[in-house]
Amino acid sequence: MTDMAERPAYTRQAGAGLLNGETAYVGNGRRQDDVTWLLEQIVDRAKRPLTEMQALPAEYYASEALYALEQERIFQRDWLYVCRADEISRPGDWYSVQIAGEPVMIVRGADSKIRALSRACPHRFMDVLGEEDDGKQRYGNKEGGFVCPYHSWAFGLDGKLTGAPLMSRSELFERERNNYCLESYSTEVWHGFIFVNFDEDAAPLAPRLASMEELLAPYRLDEWRVMERIDWPELPVSWRVVMDNGRECYHHQGSHRVSVEPLWPSNLVDADTNDDDSFYWERLFVAPDAAIGEEDGHPIQPVMLPPLEGLTPYQRSHSLLVGVYPTMWFTPSPDVMFVAKWWPTGPQSHKFQLDVCVHEAQLDNPELKKAVSDARDWGYQIQVEDSRSCAGIQRMLHSRAANRAGGGALSHLERPVWQFQKYMANRLADANL
Ligand code: FES
Ligand SMILES: [Fe+2]
Repeated sequence: MTDMAERPAYTRQAGAGLLNGETAYVGNGRRQDDVTWLLEQIVDRAKRPLTEMQALPAEYYASEALYALEQERIFQRDWLYVCRADEISRPGDWYSVQIAGEPVMIVRGADSKIRALSRACPHRFMDVLGEEDDGKQRYGNKEGGFVCPYHSWAFGLDGKLTGAPLMSRSELFERERNNYCLESYSTEVWHGFIFVNFDEDAAPLAPRLASMEELLAPYRLDEWRVMERIDWPELPVSWRVVMDNGRECYHHQGSHRVSVEPLWPSNLVDADTNDDDSFYWERLFVAPDAAIGEEDGHPIQPVMLPPLEGLTPYQRSHSLLVGVYPTMWFTPSPDVMFVAKWWPTGPQSHKFQLDVCVHEAQLDNPELKKAVSDARDWGYQIQVEDSRSCAGIQRMLHSRAANRAGGGALSHLERPVWQFQKYMANRLADANL
């Protein structure tokens, strides 16, 4: 987080009233919540050729039983996006998040290294951040390390115990003191995005995303800064519903026909770019009517800030939508980049955050504040529309009609939904596709 930026507007209660009279319906499933049957369905869909892509049945989105398997095979094993490296730029900066049920803090050490530490004190399990974590403000600085507010055991920024008062009579403590650390987890920084993995044997993330390097290089993503965040309240909608919604641009001409469609119409989106099972990317081309001009035959996308230096007219004719499965996407763009992350908070509920980022060259631009504010308001509006659609899906999941249908055919623009079916087939059913 840059100094000039105020801390994100956590007070923005984005979802308040959103579900007014629209509380997501949860009733008895018409079929049993049968994991074996669901895995068969997932593998069947994942094996389809592009012309036969099909949505998964409603039971997949509604399943509570699948959640336990996802926790074990995805959330305890895969790389999960938490925040940007620029948000914890100084030694002692911490960012706290509850992810996959784990209370974790991402900490910048005195050695500048980024670590993911548990917040559970090894003595009697107090939250070492104590009252500083009120559920909204999730940043802080503890240059001198962490002192547990319960009995004052102290820990360095690397999680190691540095002091424990009145323990000198304990021989057990003397023998074990080196083991009394804040538990730590693997982290990896990819283009300024910090990922955490609870599996200490996990293969590194960057190699599996390597084929996107050439695509992303012109955007110099390490140099972007988070300026604003919309922190959406928890919603009673399955993470499988919201993630599939966030991946495809087919619904621009439906849910976003007034907000997004005039800028990035569905029919101009190029989703035919890759078949990978752990990431996807698409090009969102500007509508000719919305363009601010033309260069070398390319309609130029409108900007809120001067475009990033070095981008070609072609690159300024569109934004990218790049997703890293399972839970995040970002939009490399000429001027403003959105970064989105969702994570399940239970079998049928999730949290969502949307960040507005700009390139560091714009930090002194007098137009910056207005541009960020406008971008945030636009992102807020889009999220209202997405939440309405997702709540509408959730209400239908247990209906008789939804449970008799097997899921409809997918448009070519829903290719990332099919790619995620492959992700699920490979992770949950070892399908090896
Ligand atoms: S629980 Fe942390 S010092 Fe006792
Ligand atoms: Fe959307």
